[in-house]
Amino acid sequence: MKMKKVISSLLIASALTFSATTVFASTGSSLFSSEGCIACHTINGQGGSVGPDLSHVGSKRSLSWIKTQITNPSAHFAAGSSVTINGQSYTAIMPAHKHMSASKLNALANYLESLK
Ligand code: HEC
Repeated sequence: MKMKKVISSLLIASALTFSATTVFASTGSSLFSSEGCIACHTINGQGGSVGPDLSHVGSKRSLSWIKTQITNPSAHFAAGSSVTINGQSYTAIMPAHKHMSASKLNALANYLESLK
């Protein structure tokens, strides 16, 4: 009886974790479109090529690095300079998304960081 209880609460906990992760990811990926990132960046074959492909950005950039890139890209890349990312050359023209709320920024950055 006790064991059953433990197992069922474990099941509930993992179901909750699963749905929280799923919601996070779908919010992050819809922000990627609604915030206009998709015009310049591709994820999994969809999007533009003005900026680098972000399909695996989480394997080389940290969460805090990604947040800074979204709010203040010139902290990483001097505006207008030529930068090489993943062996390709880009002109650093990414706009700073300073208006974004903390919760949107978190969801979007967490989503990108999850792309390994
Ligand atoms: C007008 C085109 C444009 C838009 C819109 C844009 N970016 Fe960028 N992004 C770039 C370019 C160009 C770079 C290369 C460096 C730079 O410009 O700062 C870049 C770099 C990046 C990088 C670094 C990638 C790496 O591999 O190091 C990330 C992460 C990123 N952008 C995320 C975003 C997100 C998230 C959004 C939407 C909120 C967004 N970008 C909107 C053009 C854009």
